Amino acid sequence: MIGRLNHVAIAVPDLQAASAQYATTLGAKVGLPQDEPNHGVTVVFIELPNTKIELLYPLGENSPIQNFLDKNPSGGIHHICYEVDDILMARDQLQGQGARVLGAGEPKIGAHGKPVLFLHPKDFTGCLIELEQV
Ligand code: CO
Repeated sequence: MIGRLNHVAIAVPDLQAASAQYATTLGAKVGLPQDEPNHGVTVVFIELPNTKIELLYPLGENSPIQNFLDKNPSGGIHHICYEVDDILMARDQLQGQGARVLGAGEPKIGAHGKPVLFLHPKDFTGCLIELEQV
C-alpha cells in the first residue's frame, strides 16, 4: 500500500537557526518558510536527492507542534510521511484493520497541496505517520 518516503518532519524550537544549520553546516538545499494556518505550522522544506526534510515550527494559538516542543524542548522527529496512490482507499483499508486516523478521518490539504491524513502513533510503534496522496 505505501510507496515512497515523501518526507521526514522535524519539529524545531528556532526555525531560522535550523534552516541555517541545514543550509550551511549540512550543505542542503533549503526552501523559504511557508505558513500553513490550517495545520498550525510554519514549514521549511529541505530537498535531498532521495526525499525531503520538513522543518516544523508552531504557528498560532493551538499549534499541534507546541505540545511536542514543550515535551522536547530541543526539537525532534515529529512524523514521517509515506506516499499512497489513493488516500481514501488506504484509509478505509487501515481502519478496517483497526488503525486509528487522527481528527475527523477526512483528508486535509497538506503543505504540498495534496490530500493528507495522520495515523495514530500508538498503532504504529510510536511513530506518527502521515499519508500523502501523490
Ligand atoms: Co508532513
